[in-house]
Amino acid sequence: MAYDHVPHHIAIVMDGNGRWANKRFLPRIAGHRQGVESLKRCAKACDARGIRVLTVFAFSSENWKRPTEEVSGLMDLFAMALTREVKQLQADGVQLRFVGDRRSLSPRVLRSMEEGESATAHNTRLTLNACFNYGGRWDIAQAAQKVLDQGLPIIETHLNRAMSLAHVPDPDLVIRTGGEHRLSNFLLWQAAYSEFFFTDVLWPDFDEAALDLAIDSFAQRERRFGMTSDQLDGEPNLADGT
Ligand code: IPE
Ligand code: IPE
Ligand code: MG
Repeated sequence: MAYDHVPHHIAIVMDGNGRWANKRFLPRIAGHRQGVESLKRCAKACDARGIRVLTVFAFSSENWKRPTEEVSGLMDLFAMALTREVKQLQADGVQLRFVGDRRSLSPRVLRSMEEGESATAHNTRLTLNACFNYGGRWDIAQAAQKVLDQGLPIIETHLNRAMSLAHVPDPDLVIRTGGEHRLSNFLLWQAAYSEFFFTDVLWPDFDEAALDLAIDSFAQRERRFGMTSDQLDGEPNLADGT
């Protein structure tokens, strides 16, 4: 296919790992492990298609409510996968950024994050934002607090600058795998004008073809940002004579 209308920034709610594992009579953590493989494949595919920013929801502020065993399994997997993959990310020119509340994370997880970020800080091909212990409401609240601490008025430009994804433009396309049609507290502020694509494909099964379906769908949309179609086409507006 031709990639003439690719989004600059794709954000993904990587959902369905648990069900992928259940279907195979495997423990849920096996689904999360496969989810890491799917993320590696997806990052490569995004780069190959000219996408410059990939933001993924890896662990939400609400995921702490899961059974302790799953939470600790996810923490271990996260730290291990990071340490293991950093060299490859480096070779692939991926700049890794972690987005979320770092306060309640273990020293081991924090260390692996800091190492991953500093090792890849100068890469420029693809920015990979991993949202970990992230919530959209947390993000808006922390941004408001930052603006207040600076003694500035709470206006959109100041909040924009203080949001955790201020280093990248807003996502053009938000994909959710796993069949649910909700945001689950992901990018509440930044997705104001994103296009949405929902698929039943479970995250571990999300491959290049599934990504292309989402990009194809995106390419057919008209993003009006509040304007009319005619305005976007640059047509004269007959109603007001301009
Ligand atoms: C998404 O997969 C990954 C995380 C939330 C960490 P789930 O674990 O939510 O998978 P399902 O929704 O139970 O299938
Ligand atoms: C959203 O998935 C969070 C991540 C993918 C990290 P969940 O599986 O936690 O969402 P809900 O609970 O079904 O809304
Ligand atoms: Mg889920």
